[in-house]
Amino acid sequence: MSKNTPMNFNDEDSNTSSNPAFEQVLDSRLSRRSLFKGAGLVGVAAGATALTGCATTMSGGGTTVNSLGFKPVAKSLADKVVVPEGYTAQVIYALGDPLTAATPAYKNDGTDAAFEQRAGDHHDGMEWFGLDASGQPSNSFTSRGLLAMNHEATTDEKLSSFFIHANGGTSTLPRPASEVDKELAIHGLSFVEVQSNGKQWAYQAASPFNRRVTTMTPAAIHGPARGSEHLVTKFSADATQSRGTLNNCGTGKTPWGTFVSGEENWFGYFFRDAKDDDARKKDKQVQGLKRYGRKAGEASRHGWESAGADDRFVRWNNSAIGASAKDDYRNEMNTFGYVVEMDAYDTKAPMRKRTGLGRFAHESVAFAKPVTGQPIVAYMGDDARGEYIYKFVSEAKWDPKDASPANRLSAGDKYLDKGTLFAARFKGDGSGEWLELSMNNPVLAGSSYFEFKSNADMAIFTRLAADAVGATKMDRPEWNGVHPRTGEVYFTLTNNSNRTAATADAANPRAYTDMKDGKEQKGNVNGHIVRLADASSAGSSFKWDIYVFGSEAGADKSTVNLSSLTDDNDMSAPDGLVFSPATGICWIQTDDGAYTDKTNCMMLAAIPGKLGDGGARTVKHGDKDVTTYVGKTPTPTTLARFLVGPKGSEITGWCETPDGRAVFINIQHPGESTKMADVNDPSKFQSQWPANAGYGAGQRPRSATIVITKNDGGIIGS
Ligand code: FEO
Ligand code: CA
Ligand code: CA
Repeated sequence: MSKNTPMNFNDEDSNTSSNPAFEQVLDSRLSRRSLFKGAGLVGVAAGATALTGCATTMSGGGTTVNSLGFKPVAKSLADKVVVPEGYTAQVIYALGDPLTAATPAYKNDGTDAAFEQRAGDHHDGMEWFGLDASGQPSNSFTSRGLLAMNHEATTDEKLSSFFIHANGGTSTLPRPASEVDKELAIHGLSFVEVQSNGKQWAYQAASPFNRRVTTMTPAAIHGPARGSEHLVTKFSADATQSRGTLNNCGTGKTPWGTFVSGEENWFGYFFRDAKDDDARKKDKQVQGLKRYGRKAGEASRHGWESAGADDRFVRWNNSAIGASAKDDYRNEMNTFGYVVEMDAYDTKAPMRKRTGLGRFAHESVAFAKPVTGQPIVAYMGDDARGEYIYKFVSEAKWDPKDASPANRLSAGDKYLDKGTLFAARFKGDGSGEWLELSMNNPVLAGSSYFEFKSNADMAIFTRLAADAVGATKMDRPEWNGVHPRTGEVYFTLTNNSNRTAATADAANPRAYTDMKDGKEQKGNVNGHIVRLADASSAGSSFKWDIYVFGSEAGADKSTVNLSSLTDDNDMSAPDGLVFSPATGICWIQTDDGAYTDKTNCMMLAAIPGKLGDGGARTVKHGDKDVTTYVGKTPTPTTLARFLVGPKGSEITGWCETPDGRAVFINIQHPGESTKMADVNDPSKFQSQWPANAGYGAGQRPRSATIVITKNDGGIIGS
């Protein structure tokens, strides 16, 4: 996400349900019954079979790292990427880089065109898809592969994506079609080949594997919402097709070898006419539109709907202006908010929207290790203040032959199109419950809160279903990852400015005041990481504790710095989180605005223990006590700062070669606080990265992929 844009586009605030109170009632009732004695807290993971304890050889052939072997880097405000001694970071793929041999080099002065054949903006989540020397898919080859990545958004101010326009672009309506066409193309996904010559990595501009997916790329609707009346548009009268993917944040890799990507803050790109609520009369969609952050009359993020009468612009007007849904785009917003699945190796294969995984501000998708004969389980978070954590359990049972299927997307159809979605309720005793979001749940079938008629409605209006069953409002669930050895699921909860002493609960226990530049910041300012152990893959109960609380090292240890972080590992706003398949290291990345007076955003390496390795703690809020469960206090060999990014950037995206000796990450929106008026005055840019690292033309800052290697060729983090 970008901090430069109005907050409502990146962190909307529509959850007005009364769920915390409901949860507190249940908590006390359940603790009286002593249903869940949280002391042991030993969980067997969803899908995990035998837990192997201190294994040193990973299933992928890598080596488990049991103790971090680098010297932690200091916090930094420098306009560069800082890595530990003995490591090198190299820029390899930035905004605008050509993806065909015929595309001109990026001039980076706002005159470039043809972004459908260039790297998109705001590189975000990223996955590795290996290739062997002959260009066939490989899970072991270590010097050639595809990076599949999200291009979440763009650095903007007053409607315009100013760094891609010569003089910053227009900040008033109507927006010119020529500018909007560029902006439509810089969002989406890219698939790009990278190779190492043994000394250096480089992206391959002329690779036939390169592909861009944009806001205009056709997509097939799959899963329960396919054919729903709520997805009927002028583009697809039978509600089976849509166009584009938008504001893609986190990613995932399925057990059958495809790329999945979550659509996050898509709602802000749509405009609704001021009279749209009236035009829709008693349509239940009005409730849905509001719950997903789109009130009638609010301006859209870029004004794309204003650029002309062509369908590619009109579609961003989400108002009911035609005779029926087949005549306008009143339902267009309902075609976003899903997990999309792609085959990274097949440049012709269509994109599929997997509606069974629900519709919300999706982040990453983490799959439990599949177990033969058991369902596939995927964990997901909804990133907005007070939103929920979800899991999807497939109807189909895992067949290990599907690890290398003849048709990867057909395997996706098999596992992701039919299944059940659940939302999480966290209880005060360290236990939790998965609440089923389907017509099988009588609470939903007979709901007076929202008129659910089918499982298609659950898939499209997922947030409303989770409200109705009483899921727990969390402090902005971002990415999640499944620990390769314990099977426990780690979710970053990045921060929550709405959390107060009154709403603090066991799983979101902090609400405090932090100072930055003389101003007060309130709520859960620095975020935390919660972890879950599922009782069984399809089970309805779990145990939880809080692995670590983000904090400034100097903050009070009884109310804020509950994990006793030090200068070696203090952090704020954990966001990206990925477990290395090769080493088991948990990589934590920040997207912070709270501690940026002292440090740019960062990436830390972690070797977490397991749920229950710490203990209960009481956090005092005046005369209210909140008991929570905190993981074992980290040390510099179990949690350490590995990297700090350039000015204004967020650190995001993580993947590696199968041997763990090259790690790829993304530096998103360096220089995002630059003012649009200064777009042609490099001396006033907040950042000149990556030009100041020797990469590319021009001085305008660019989001970019970097590769990190160890100078001795060793395993990253060891
Ligand atoms: Fe795109 Fe919630 O981070
Ligand atoms: Ca501070
Ligand atoms: Ca993010």
